[in-house]
Amino acid sequence: MMFRDCIKGLDKVIQSEVKPGKTILVTGPPGSLKSSFVHLLLKNYVEKSNEFGLYATLEQDVSSHLESLESIGIGLSYNLQITDYTEILSDEFSTEINYLEFTEMMLKHLNDRFGDRFTTLGFDSLGALYSMLPEVKNPRKFAFNFFNMLKKYNLTTFVIFERSLGGEWVSMGNEGFLADAIFLLGLKKSGGRTVRFFQIEKMRSVKHSMDPHAVNVGPNGLEILGPLFDSE
Ligand SMILES: Nc1ncnc2c1ncn2[C@@H]1O[C@H](COP(=O)(O)OP(=O)(O)O)[C@@H](O)[C@H]1O
Ligand SMILES: [Mg+2]
Repeated sequence: MMFRDCIKGLDKVIQSEVKPGKTILVTGPPGSLKSSFVHLLLKNYVEKSNEFGLYATLEQDVSSHLESLESIGIGLSYNLQITDYTEILSDEFSTEINYLEFTEMMLKHLNDRFGDRFTTLGFDSLGALYSMLPEVKNPRKFAFNFFNMLKKYNLTTFVIFERSLGGEWVSMGNEGFLADAIFLLGLKKSGGRTVRFFQIEKMRSVKHSMDPHAVNVGPNGLEILGPLFDSE
């Protein structure tokens, strides 16, 4: 089973196999479909492969996450668990929780339960995790430990990390260097219209296109269309 077969048209951009255990940063401004893209990719992947995945949502609670998926026709899967940190956050003891340890506990639990079938993780988002951890004094070390923990479980992980288009890469912890791949979702002008696009900025050991490709929201989720070229 291959990830590039899990979203219609993704094989136009990813042209060879993605080996298991890679960490992929999914970046872009708010509303650029990061959460929808990662959820749809994981859902289709675990369904087709009969493997198991976890979608950890730190930014939105489960119901608001599901609501926005529903609006673009993406459903649920028994093979994809959604875990919501926002509930724990509202707890009066939330400041005493070590979220990195909590995440590792969750991964270990699913690993014990599903073994090698537990293969994929969506983490939404790293920025939200940082904001829960005011005590992070050394973001580089933190990011290094976080990425290492993901590698330990050999999970193919999609780590969402918000970033403004054209603006500074607010990469406190060298995330772009640590990740095996960087995906960018965004909006751009093309032929006088504003269109959504998907682009791979970096992907180690995978054959891929560098061009931004148009993204269409259809009745069954997202679809990747052809490459976009500057019209100016
Ligand atoms: N039916 C639809 N057609 C086109 N775009 C939609 C539709 N429903 C929602 N959207 C867009 O999806 C966005 C939310 O996507 P989401 O995956 O939550 O983005 P992100 O995680 O990057 O913030 C909304 O801001 C809206 O612009
Ligand atoms: Mg989101």
